[in-house]
Amino acid sequence: MAGAASAQAAAPIPELVQKNGKYALIVDGAPFLVLGGQANNSSNYEATLPKVWPAIRDMHANTLTMPVAWEQIEPVEGKFDFSFVDTLVKQARENNVRLVILWFATWKNTGPSYAPTWVKTDNKRFPRLTNKDGTTSYALSPLYDTTREADKKAYVELVKHIKAIDGDQHTVIMLQPENETGVYGAARDYSKKADALMAKPVPAALLKKYNKKPGDWNTVFGKDADEYFHAWSIATYIDDIVAAGDAVYPLPTYVNAALKDPLNPDQPAGSYASGGPVYSVIDVWKAAAPHIELLAPDLYTPTSQSYEKTLELYARPDNALYVAESGNSPVYARYIFSALGRQGIGFDPFGFDYTGYSNHPLGTTKTDIEMVKPFATVYKLFEGMDREWAKLSYESQVWGVSEPDDHSDQALDLGAKWNATVSYREWQFGLRKWDPENKNGYPEGSDVPSGGVVVAKLSDSEFLVAGMNARITFGAGKENAKKGMLLDRVEEGHFEGGKWVFERVWNGDQTDYGLNFTGQPVILKVRLATYEQ
Ligand code: DGJ
Repeated sequence: MAGAASAQAAAPIPELVQKNGKYALIVDGAPFLVLGGQANNSSNYEATLPKVWPAIRDMHANTLTMPVAWEQIEPVEGKFDFSFVDTLVKQARENNVRLVILWFATWKNTGPSYAPTWVKTDNKRFPRLTNKDGTTSYALSPLYDTTREADKKAYVELVKHIKAIDGDQHTVIMLQPENETGVYGAARDYSKKADALMAKPVPAALLKKYNKKPGDWNTVFGKDADEYFHAWSIATYIDDIVAAGDAVYPLPTYVNAALKDPLNPDQPAGSYASGGPVYSVIDVWKAAAPHIELLAPDLYTPTSQSYEKTLELYARPDNALYVAESGNSPVYARYIFSALGRQGIGFDPFGFDYTGYSNHPLGTTKTDIEMVKPFATVYKLFEGMDREWAKLSYESQVWGVSEPDDHSDQALDLGAKWNATVSYREWQFGLRKWDPENKNGYPEGSDVPSGGVVVAKLSDSEFLVAGMNARITFGAGKENAKKGMLLDRVEEGHFEGGKWVFERVWNGDQTDYGLNFTGQPVILKVRLATYEQ
């Protein structure tokens, strides 16, 4: 009986669920929105954690993403040390945040720098791949059982340990096996072993995915054969590792991608990380790695055209959108609105701790509270409603946009009854067309694009709306075209323990010129109505 009661009390293991192409990360039995902050690469030591927690706290993040390195847990083959993992999990609980753990092993930014010395200095047992010109690459080859089995053994020990210390609490909610896989400078391993494998028939699962007839790799995939072969080799390698971890404790897993330029499909493989989960090989990864829940982009391209295109490419009915990394310059903070509008399950920008390291020009030069502020502003908006938002995203309909670089308006199609326009650089009073020469200038904070809005459907004519540095103007959709449209009631409020707490009603000046969000974001509940005319 006692056993049954405690089994009942233990919440289920985190899980990624899918319904009609929509996703939710279920944590403790309910949808969870990851408002993450990723620590710098070498912050995975107990001595550094005091510089990590204050940044995560200042950021209002609900999740810390932290590497755990193979070299750290298995410095000597077969001897494991999980003291950092123990400390990390304990302190995460004290700081009331969840953890995403990154497994830096065979691949970290494509190279094996985080593999233990006994691995990275033993090319005989753990071979590196061969470049096209016959020279040896810096990256390990995915074609050797020795390497995969050694990595797998350590990963499984890590998963076992997480289960032992966290199986009943679920502080750890996701794992990222490896980091930015692939190789630069080559499309694949050009060793004799690799050539022999390429001459063999393409595996059935891949043929099926691409609807192709049997044949060897070059015959089936032509100019794409080298990259597809490398992607398949890496993806099956990691899938095998993940399957072994899942057999112990099946936490959701994802792999992150060092991106291929989304606006240049002709970029040659090897000038980006060939074989990694870039957008053009998502199908290869899906066929090769059924145990990996999702493929996630690392977004360090600040322009809105490029950023939005990548979000679009990774938000697919067969792939939940999760921004695994993003630059930490102020311009990136607004993209949370776009990611959530595409039903993203979370956002996890990179470089959030106070260790003094800046990855400028990828991110900001700032390493203090100034770095955190733009993200904290947005996270604060969602922190009270992270669960509600995740539930609405999974069960209802959501929309979201962020300010384009050219500050142009964006249209939201909210269905047959309603639509909306989001505009930027607006004062709260009046219309921009009244000031064609821009004599009034732009509001403070709109010198760089920073605006964004999210909308979630609560019922046919009621929406939850949140935003910053933007105006949203609702309008009548096709079904209501002949009627007059009005804002029936606009409530400002917040969420507490999952319940809406009313603060005030907006009317008059506050609603005459659209609903205006400033640099201090707010949450509104908007009820729309029509009148006969
Ligand atoms: C992407 C990698 O995944 C991160 O670990 C880090 O190296 C950044 N690039 C650059 O700071």
